[in-house]
Amino acid sequence: MNPKNYSFLIFFLCAPNFVTACPVGCSCNGSSITCTSLSKPEFDLLTATLKDAPYNETTELYLSAVEEFLFPSVPDMLKLTVFKIHASPGDSEWFLRRHQFPELQTLHFTKGDLKTFPKALMSLTSLTELDLSDNKLENLGADSIHIRSIQKIILRNNEIKIIGVHVFRYMPTLKVLDLTGNNMTRLVTSDFTSAVSLKELILRNNKIELIETDTTDPLQQLETLDLSGNLLSEVRLEAQQNFRHLFSLNLSSNALHVIREGFLQLPDLQVLQLDNCDMSVVEAGAFVSLPRLHSMDIKNNPNLAYFSPYAFGNSTAFYRLNIQKTGFKRIPLTILEKVSQLYIKDTALDCSCTSRDMQDFGAVTIIDWNDATCRTKMGAVQKLSHLEKSEEPCRDNLLTPFGIKQTAIVGQAYRIYCANDGTNSKLFWVSPNKTTTEAKQPDLRKSTVKKTDYFTTTLLDPSYSKNHEERVHISTEYYGFDVVLESDAGYYECVSKSDMKTLTRKIELAVLPPEIYLNASHVATTSVHLSWNKNLKIEAVDRVALRITASSEKMFKRQVQLSLYNMFRSYNLVNLSADKEYEICLEWYLTDSETMIYKSCITQKTKPFKTVMQSLNAKLAIGLLVIMIIVVVFCCDTCIHQKYAYFSRMKKQAKMQQSISGQSMLTQSSSADATTYENFQLSVTSASERPLI
Ligand SMILES: *[C@@H]1O[C@H](CO)[C@@H](O)[C@H](O)[C@H]1NC(C)=O
Ligand SMILES: *[C@@H]1O[C@H](CO)[C@@H](O)[C@H](O)[C@H]1NC(C)=O
Ligand SMILES: *[C@@H]1O[C@H](CO)[C@@H](O)[C@H](O)[C@H]1NC(C)=O
Ligand SMILES: *[C@@H]1O[C@H](CO)[C@@H](O)[C@H](O)[C@H]1NC(C)=O
Ligand SMILES: *[C@@H]1O[C@H](CO)[C@@H](O)[C@H](O)[C@H]1NC(C)=O
Ligand SMILES: *[C@@H]1O[C@H](CO)[C@@H](O)[C@H](O)[C@H]1NC(C)=O
Ligand SMILES: *[C@@H]1O[C@H](CO)[C@@H](O)[C@H](O)[C@H]1NC(C)=O
Ligand SMILES: *[C@@H]1O[C@H](CO)[C@@H](O)[C@H](O)[C@H]1NC(C)=O
Repeated sequence: MNPKNYSFLIFFLCAPNFVTACPVGCSCNGSSITCTSLSKPEFDLLTATLKDAPYNETTELYLSAVEEFLFPSVPDMLKLTVFKIHASPGDSEWFLRRHQFPELQTLHFTKGDLKTFPKALMSLTSLTELDLSDNKLENLGADSIHIRSIQKIILRNNEIKIIGVHVFRYMPTLKVLDLTGNNMTRLVTSDFTSAVSLKELILRNNKIELIETDTTDPLQQLETLDLSGNLLSEVRLEAQQNFRHLFSLNLSSNALHVIREGFLQLPDLQVLQLDNCDMSVVEAGAFVSLPRLHSMDIKNNPNLAYFSPYAFGNSTAFYRLNIQKTGFKRIPLTILEKVSQLYIKDTALDCSCTSRDMQDFGAVTIIDWNDATCRTKMGAVQKLSHLEKSEEPCRDNLLTPFGIKQTAIVGQAYRIYCANDGTNSKLFWVSPNKTTTEAKQPDLRKSTVKKTDYFTTTLLDPSYSKNHEERVHISTEYYGFDVVLESDAGYYECVSKSDMKTLTRKIELAVLPPEIYLNASHVATTSVHLSWNKNLKIEAVDRVALRITASSEKMFKRQVQLSLYNMFRSYNLVNLSADKEYEICLEWYLTDSETMIYKSCITQKTKPFKTVMQSLNAKLAIGLLVIMIIVVVFCCDTCIHQKYAYFSRMKKQAKMQQSISGQSMLTQSSSADATTYENFQLSVTSASERPLI
């Protein structure tokens, strides 16, 4: 062997002796150190080593399972850029010295026991990435992270429930926020008002039931939104200013059941994921307001067979569709024509319905053609590519995705779905009153026209009269009601007629009344304070009104119009006569025909007038009460300060609502009957009470 090689080897063996050795339990590679399972003495040794050359110039430090990890023990490390600490809970207060890690860019502190965000984070002024996954953080409040340079925050598997107001004000360059696996129950867009750079928001596996788009400004820059694995049953996202640049949306693993007409109106959306959503129906017009959509997954929805041929708009961008593991018996021709890459493995295709055109599309459009199978009438599974021309004709089929016994609730918008499975037969509907109607292709609503509720419309324009649109919509895909009435219950027949044969499906619709109770919570001499337990869920807000009527035997009648968005579910009825019995009703009715949708009534007697003595006592009592209130308010001062942030948000919402409602009050009164338009409740509404518009 060449002696030159030997000397090289000797140099290598001796090299560690010239410098301090890599600490026990650690492996050193260049300027990076990785340590696992350090006992306390080993950790002390490490921190001592880090003080000396060359380890004082370490740029990356990875620690995991350190017995007693303490930030103060780590020396100042002027070159450290990456510091990842895993499963090493030590002090939760994190005492960081001011210039301990001046260059630190990436900090991970995962699987610790953090319950609150350490204040010391503020001293890390170069940080761009922070990962605090697998801790026990509950509050993402305004005091949590103040790092102006931060770009990426990962908080997976914590217990965060809500996002506080102004959190993002202190993170102006934040681009990515990952809240996978937390306890969020709603997504409120106004929480993101100051998140001006946010591009990616991941809310996977939370418990989100509701999306409140309560303001139109925030989230303008957002490109990716992941809402998979939540509890959403209804989604409606419309870009006004917010979501304008949304590019990719993941709604997988939510129980969506029905993809409604125009459910997303997002001009830039290109990628949409709807896997595993227990989906049964895709309505006509479902994707028409997504002009740039080019790739969609609706995999693993075994009940999905009902897919409207009018689901897509005229967009030519659509390119890739994955319908693996869906319930399609035949692939709708619209899909075959529209899509250039189709994935169909494990669908429930019927062999006799895989037409010759499908063979033509076969190997070109259908990417997984060689794995695609269908079922014969006898139940055998065959490969599509080996299929011989079928003898038996394709059986006509009527699709009724929600069965033949269905239940609707009074006031709801409801559709009884029934459609031909792709054949050219005509479809007829027979109403419970035995009227037969030939169904037309479903009309698509103009998505841009937003429905204003009747109350607001009449408030702004008292001459406004009626909505002339039909309440019932009969189409080749459904028998639909804007507002279900109790009288709509009965048997509906869906009949498909072709030259060959007639198919009939009889569907029973039951209509349940809601359980709404009206109570008089406080009764005085001239007023009654009313409250009720819930509101009707109304979608057709433009044609439904809510009023309170009070009548006594002397033909006295008063009507008060209320907003459907009455979130307090209460009203104080004033100007009544003392010691008199009134019948008071809460009524939802159709404005075009005055048809009652639902009413709940009580009879209530007002109190008799008090004697002079009693009213004197009353004044005394009121005086005492005022004094007490002053004392209580005084004591609660600090408490009120804490609530301040909450109130300012409420105020903001209220202001927004005021701007649409104004505070005017119209009184239209004739001699006997008077109608008052009462809109103070409108000033504070909650989106949870807001009927879907
Ligand atoms: C050391 O780091 C280099 C690059 O930084 C990497 O390619 C190499 O695999 C590392 N060696 C060890 C033993 O980890
Ligand atoms: C590391 O220690 C050496 C020797 O004491 C010193 O020359 C060097 O400046 C130190 N480096 C840093 C980044 O402190
Ligand atoms: C968050 O959800 C988990 C799992 O459902 C539950 O155990 C935990 O108590 C919740 N935490 C909070 C703060 O609600
Ligand atoms: C969408 O969410 C599902 C479920 O969480 C996940 O498996 C999938 O990878 C996500 N898709 C994208 C593009 O992130
Ligand atoms: C789609 O195209 C047809 C015919 O070209 C047209 O009648 C229809 O209005 C278009 N629909 C939309 C939503 O643009
Ligand atoms: C029967 O019902 C349909 C729709 O529900 C309605 O348009 C029609 O007027 C009704 N006919 C009679 C005779 O009641
Ligand atoms: C309201 O009235 C209903 C029946 O009319 C009664 O069952 C309920 O207990 C009352 N609620 C209150 C809060 O008084
Ligand atoms: C109550 O009655 C008085 C006098 O009749 C009237 O001025 C007032 O506007 C009424 N208030 C309401 C809310 O109807």
